[in-house]
Amino acid sequence: MNSSIKKIAFCVFLALLTATTVAQTPLLTNIHNRAGLSLNGDWQYIVDPYETGFYDYRFKERKESDGEAFWNIAIQKNKTERKEHGYSDKYVLKVPGDWNHQKPEFLFYEGTIWYKKSFDYQVKANKTYYIYFGAVNYKADVYLNGKKLGSHNGGFTPFNFKIPADYLKEKDNFIVVKVDNKRGANEVPTLNTDWWNYGGITREVKLVELPETSIRDFSLQLQKPKDFNKSVKNYTVNGWIRTNGITENKTVKLEIPELKVNTPIKLTGDSTFFTITVSKLNLWTPENPKLYAVKLNLEENIIEDRIGFRTIEANKKEVLLNGKPIFMRGISIHGEIPNEIRRAYSKEDAMHLLGQAKELGCNMVRLAHYPHDESITRLADSLGLMVWSEIPVYWTINFGSKEVLKKAKQQLHEMIDRDRNRASIIIWSVGNETPISPVRTEFMRSLINETKTLDQSRMVSAALEIKISNSLDTIVVDDPLGAYVDLVAFNEYLGWYGGLPSQCKKTNWKTIYNKPLFISETGAGAKGGFTSDSLTRFSEDYQEWFYKEQVEMLKRMPDNFVGISPWVLNDFRSPKRNNPTYQEGWNRKGLYDNLGNKKKAFYVLQKYYNEIKSAEKSKE
Ligand code: GCU
Repeated sequence: MNSSIKKIAFCVFLALLTATTVAQTPLLTNIHNRAGLSLNGDWQYIVDPYETGFYDYRFKERKESDGEAFWNIAIQKNKTERKEHGYSDKYVLKVPGDWNHQKPEFLFYEGTIWYKKSFDYQVKANKTYYIYFGAVNYKADVYLNGKKLGSHNGGFTPFNFKIPADYLKEKDNFIVVKVDNKRGANEVPTLNTDWWNYGGITREVKLVELPETSIRDFSLQLQKPKDFNKSVKNYTVNGWIRTNGITENKTVKLEIPELKVNTPIKLTGDSTFFTITVSKLNLWTPENPKLYAVKLNLEENIIEDRIGFRTIEANKKEVLLNGKPIFMRGISIHGEIPNEIRRAYSKEDAMHLLGQAKELGCNMVRLAHYPHDESITRLADSLGLMVWSEIPVYWTINFGSKEVLKKAKQQLHEMIDRDRNRASIIIWSVGNETPISPVRTEFMRSLINETKTLDQSRMVSAALEIKISNSLDTIVVDDPLGAYVDLVAFNEYLGWYGGLPSQCKKTNWKTIYNKPLFISETGAGAKGGFTSDSLTRFSEDYQEWFYKEQVEMLKRMPDNFVGISPWVLNDFRSPKRNNPTYQEGWNRKGLYDNLGNKKKAFYVLQKYYNEIKSAEKSKE
């Protein structure tokens, strides 16, 4: 395609993008190496279940200058003055971190908590400033020095607000964030989920300092060569750079030293499309997760990243990684550290969870049911674990609402904007187990189309619905949404939610779609350490029997079966799980229990994965 056609193609892409983009402050990426000030640490707080800080006694929203609003600091000018709110070091929460695990009284709390942090900053005249949040669950209203910066809905994706020039001071700035984690019928997710509603500023916060002209975001994606089999001489990498400020006739220098790339890219506006050709590319694979140092420099505004180059596609009955068929040995993971009963957010947390997955013999993880923190997708890049990343369009969403669709699309944009350069991510999932209806299928199809508008380099999927029945020997995966996904994925709990594990002996699977078939969930519960006989529900022996029967059934799957991500790596917290002996607020389907002990079933799945690995090695 010659460069002028490419430019037209890119302009069309941009027009589409702006047409469907949900209006909001454009996301800054690569926050870890941007200048600024981390605002992580101790924040003072006020618990506000009655929304007193936001509404007056008539329940009217308070005016900005209202001294009783909780976005204002209550300074008692004299002993007589009446003040009925205030921030104090007596009441402090750690950021990042959910509030539920930090104070016993917050274990089940669902409502508003106001956070406040004071800071000084050397403000520079020729700089622009943003406040960046890795995630806040669920709704955030953000104020700086008593003035509103903006609001954000959605508990698992990053967002930022540009700070108007005269808001920031050298001394005694105070940022206030109203966090409300109440579940809502018209939210994403909705009222009903099978996980704990951890509230708070659950990921990092940063004051970001940028020059007036800066790189906001960029993309580098390997273009699929005509034929991987022939020794590829040159690889084409397509990219684009999105910038802030006046960039006419400015140049970004792109460097990938290991590939001898040192290319000036002349900017053509706030979005510039480019293509580079490289030879001898060491492709990213789980076995060889090669990452290249990448540097973009716009007049000393420098972005550095480490990027892997690979292609992924669904091709008839196979999933091809760099043109070769792969089998995904996966596991589903919640973003939770069970032995501390808290949301995961750090590099150490990511290492803990992905280390467990590696020990199980995985080459893939399904990060359920919401975008996890950036540490885990970056670590997956380095460790060579393929990733299924998902927005929380979960169960009974209000599919008939345009507002809800807009919220889901916003979270989709934020998930893809943050992680588009992560080689490990091979699947964007638009949802999980959504009950079949025409309005639901239209809602989900719209999300699939939006995903493809944003990123044509990955597969799109969702955990589809199936009907389990004891009488049927063959179960057909025919969810109408299967017509629109690249990877036909489904959750089956044959032997836990339907029949006994022995049902697996008689069951065969097929799909009406000529596409790769993936089991996104299957699993059984067991209380760690509870052993009995295999017919005793919640014993490790029952769970072990379940996995043994499932593994034997998997060996009889049709030829388009490309992998599985059983449910679930660790026991996790859920208010829906109330068996007083075996659950007590825990979903017990983990292969590790909540203290990190392996259950008997762990070894069954590990053995199956090791057998697959050695069979693949013997074919090499
Ligand atoms: C569903 C759902 C999970 C849930 C699991 C279970 O498949 O996707 O979020 O935890 O079943 O019942 O344990």
